[in-house]
Amino acid sequence: MQEPILQGVIRKFWIDRAGPYRDHLLRLDQESRRNRFGGAVSDEFIVNYTELSLGLDAVMHGFFVDGVLRGVAELRPLGEEFAREAEAAFSIEKPWQYHGVGSALLERTLLAARNRGIKLLHMACLANNQRMVELARKFDAELTFDFGSVVGEVEAPYPTPISVWREVVADTHGFATAMLDVQTRMLRPA
Ligand SMILES: CC(C)(COP(=O)(O)OP(=O)(O)OC[C@H]1O[C@@H](n2cnc3c(N)ncnc32)[C@H](O)[C@@H]1OP(=O)(O)O)[C@@H](O)C(=O)NCCC(=O)NCCS
Repeated sequence: MQEPILQGVIRKFWIDRAGPYRDHLLRLDQESRRNRFGGAVSDEFIVNYTELSLGLDAVMHGFFVDGVLRGVAELRPLGEEFAREAEAAFSIEKPWQYHGVGSALLERTLLAARNRGIKLLHMACLANNQRMVELARKFDAELTFDFGSVVGEVEAPYPTPISVWREVVADTHGFATAMLDVQTRMLRPA
């Protein structure tokens, strides 16, 4: 398989992106789709899911390559206003996996969770999803994970001026952040 050129931008996107989000999820290969949804799901399920899912309360980060959405992190508060728990879900299209995009998206999602006072993060994946578990483990300093149920506890649940500033800077300079992360990984031996 040809090595993709990892020039991409990570940035938030909103409800107007339901179409691109649907198309991204439909492009996932079978295994990634199963891992994303915890089981085999049909195209119809994905169409319905994206129509319903982009509520105003969700924080969506996208990884865009040439304007096309190739990876998504969803952060969805659970329950009422000022929820202390949220669910996170990740999907990256196969050619863009293994290059640090998931890590960059998780980092941005954790920052957004912290700034919203989220204390508990449920990872929407099966406990045997080794890659997701390994990915989460890299953030041990920020999270305490229970891998049985794959629930992560955000260590510093409250926003600080610096964490809010980091999110604003990340939103403004998403390109630089994403590129730095991806390039660092590409330089590493396989
Ligand atoms: C799981 C997923 C989000 C990870 O994203 P990614 O961009 O491929 O992951 P990264 O390149 O950032 O790698 C993250 C870490 O996973 C681990 N990892 C990578 N490949 C691995 C593999 N084959 N087996 C075990 N661990 C692996 C490594 O620890 C890696 O960190 P490192 O490169 O610093 O050593 C992505 O592969 C994906 O979308 N998969 C399909 C859907 C899915 O499983 N979603 C999760 C459920 S919601």
